[in-house]
Amino acid sequence: MKTAAYAQGWYLVAFSKELGPTEVKPVRYFGQEFVLYRTEAGEPVLMEAFCPHLGAHLGHGGKVEGDAIRCPFHAWKFDKGGRCTEVPYAKRIPPRAEVKVRTLREQNGMILGFFGPADAQPDYEIPLLPQLDDPAWTALETDQAVIKTEPREVIENIADRAHFLPVHATKIDEFEVIIDGPRATQRTLGKGRNLRGEKIDVVSVATYHGPAIQFTDLAWAYPMMLVNAHIPIDKDRLLLRFGVAVKTGVGVVLPPEVMSAVVAAARDGYFQDVAIWENKKWRDTPVLADGDGPIGRIRDWYKGFFAEASA
Ligand code: FES
Ligand SMILES: [Fe+2]
Repeated sequence: MKTAAYAQGWYLVAFSKELGPTEVKPVRYFGQEFVLYRTEAGEPVLMEAFCPHLGAHLGHGGKVEGDAIRCPFHAWKFDKGGRCTEVPYAKRIPPRAEVKVRTLREQNGMILGFFGPADAQPDYEIPLLPQLDDPAWTALETDQAVIKTEPREVIENIADRAHFLPVHATKIDEFEVIIDGPRATQRTLGKGRNLRGEKIDVVSVATYHGPAIQFTDLAWAYPMMLVNAHIPIDKDRLLLRFGVAVKTGVGVVLPPEVMSAVVAAARDGYFQDVAIWENKKWRDTPVLADGDGPIGRIRDWYKGFFAEASA
């Protein structure tokens, strides 16, 4: 037995709008190559990239047919479960002609993938976001960035009370971390500034649903909903995806400059942390002081996602 290299759970593989009808994309996550495609019926599929025949990458030139993908090299066809259903020039299909497929769900305009050791099955769900169907809210504006860090740095942020003032210029009056099974919530009440630079109360409730997808309810210049999700590309790089929706009220359209300032401010809040993460060093045994948040508690929670992988 050895400890898994990555935390087991749901990850944001792509926003739905990143994958058009019958589109085929090569993606690299967890140090592995995959092909992500959308069937003719509109279902997303994520499978291991390399064809069991002679190893072509299905994401580079593969074509969708019905629910299947056809390899660009010798045209073997694989259904959405990863089984080879056709070898155009052969009388029989080799029994081992199969590629591994990952469990996906599509909800909230997101394609979610469950990652863990080979036979790991989902043991919790990502909640639906009612704001996304509510006409009082704007659509989710999204952005993404590749950053040079590891997931545990991103996770530790939830428990880090003392960084709010130096990094985010937010004075925190109340701070609490609540752990509930696969979910960890940070609640803060603090003072920040609105777009006009005036001091206002800022209330944030930020919940990780598993090791990599966080939804935040934020009362700032407007009621806002933030999505932060990371997925490892390999050992030292992450893809961070970010989304923000704003409650403007039914029929109210914010002037574009106000909307983009709100989105930029929310995104900048996150990228203030990124600037630290990209250059810092991980401390296994940090020197902590009273007034630090529950760093040890959040580390223990995160360790719970590292299932034992069989050798
Ligand atoms: S490598 Fe895919 S069909 Fe030959
Ligand atoms: Fe932060």
